[in-house]
Amino acid sequence: MGSIESDYVLRTPIEHRKHYAQFFTPVSLADVMTDWLVKKGDIVSVLEPAFGLGVFTRCLLEKKDNLDIKGFDVDEKIFNESRRIYGSQVNLLNQDYMHNDWNNKYDAIICNPPYFKFHNYDNKKIIDEIEARLSCKLNGFTNLYTLFLLKSIHQLNPGGRCAYIVPSEFLNSDYGRLVKRHLLKTRSLRHIIVFSFEDNLFEDALTTSCLVLCENSEDCETVRFTSLPTLNGTGLIKKCLDNDFPDNVFSREYAFSDLDPDVKWKNYYQECNVSKYGNLVPFSVYAKVMRGIATGANDFFIFNKSKAEEQHVGEEFLRPCVCRCADVKGSVFTEEDYQKLKEADKNVYLLDAVGVEDENVKRYLKSGIADGVDKKYLTSSRNPWYALENRLPSPIWVTVFNRKGLRFVRNQAGVSNLTTFHCVYPQRSLYNDVSDDLLFAYLQTDIAKEIFADNCREYGNGLQKFEPNDLNKGMMMDIALLPDHEKKKIEAMVRDCPESLPVKEIEIILLKYFQN
Ligand SMILES: C[S@@+](CC[C@H](N)C(=O)[O-])C[C@H]1O[C@@H](n2cnc3c(N)ncnc32)[C@H](O)[C@@H]1O
Repeated sequence: MGSIESDYVLRTPIEHRKHYAQFFTPVSLADVMTDWLVKKGDIVSVLEPAFGLGVFTRCLLEKKDNLDIKGFDVDEKIFNESRRIYGSQVNLLNQDYMHNDWNNKYDAIICNPPYFKFHNYDNKKIIDEIEARLSCKLNGFTNLYTLFLLKSIHQLNPGGRCAYIVPSEFLNSDYGRLVKRHLLKTRSLRHIIVFSFEDNLFEDALTTSCLVLCENSEDCETVRFTSLPTLNGTGLIKKCLDNDFPDNVFSREYAFSDLDPDVKWKNYYQECNVSKYGNLVPFSVYAKVMRGIATGANDFFIFNKSKAEEQHVGEEFLRPCVCRCADVKGSVFTEEDYQKLKEADKNVYLLDAVGVEDENVKRYLKSGIADGVDKKYLTSSRNPWYALENRLPSPIWVTVFNRKGLRFVRNQAGVSNLTTFHCVYPQRSLYNDVSDDLLFAYLQTDIAKEIFADNCREYGNGLQKFEPNDLNKGMMMDIALLPDHEKKKIEAMVRDCPESLPVKEIEIILLKYFQN
């Protein structure tokens, strides 16, 4: 961060910065991004759609004279500070970029757009406008930062260039498909560079970053994808922009016609694990993954033993449930483990009050109404408001966020789970009639995790997230094809000691039948 930005950060409450998504671009990154624009040579008109404190403008003015720079920032506070700093050097406007300036075009556009994890911006109105102006279709969940990008591409003069630094999320998420379709349709995309900084760039977003470089010309047939190891500086990005790709860098060019907007684009910038193995089928052939129970008001619905006693709510009105990932240590969760949590007064119950006539339960429900629990987002859409989602306990759970690869847990206690785990329900048919033991053993292997990793959403700091559908659509070895004697051998291992399986031994068996 430049000193102007760090000074601002020190003086400004974090709530204010979060409200406007004010996370600042490091000067070294702004420097390489502006290089991409300046290399074009004849640029005059420049747009900064999310100006902040103008780090890109400062870099540009050091490299080039006679620039005609326009900047937008919706926040009056930062706008006033920037106006003081830049005076007449920049035409600054205190306006929402998404709703203004549609008819102007620029030689260069550069931006670190606002990234909001949740959709606290009125996306609907702006999505309608973009769809109409760009004649494209977008998903209602499309994140604002990609809408900034699409609008900017639309505002490039012929031959104009734009450089955006954004989270890489859209490359591999569902809503990103239509954005990618547009990048291909306009033929503007030139280079995507994916990387994570040791110090995370999008502090709160926990996501890998990606540099999107575009040009408004149709004379280019290819797009380059580059994926960098974790960076502690921008030297490597600079090299890649000079077409110098060291050995530890993955970089490949693809013809526009070979790029598919409907697949995860990590396929284009990461070596794929799937290709190492044969006879793979979608995981949904063997199991259905669904998210755990969302209560909509955990404080109200979750109970431990002492709260149950205090409120005189009997155990018959409480559904056994695991509420935190940290409460489940190993790969098997037994009835004994559940009892231990209960005795340790951990949260282990969910209120299950539908149709209950008990006076104490009724009194507790009334206290919920008094506190407005019935008016919350999820509860207000349920009938009655305190009904729990109708989700049976699943025999296997899987963790949602992972640092060391997926963790599958055998739920021998038969209890429910909140959203900290996804539920895995084994599916059987004539062709995939394998036991839960065999499926569980497969899921404990590093091979299974490696193959699933092709489908996860990547975040910064080594964090992987799997949505239920990432797993349903992920691949697994078609373990029904294993010969019977191998199946029996693995099942016996599970029966002997499920909590510490000889995983390497199981992998040796799998590799005999599934390695390409
Ligand atoms: C991620 S910061 C980037 C600031 C600066 N360009 C940088 O890279 O350091 C995004 C900036 O966009 C502003 N912003 C947020 N929503 C906006 C909108 N709809 N239109 C224009 N500016 C917006 C925020 O106030 C913030 O200053």
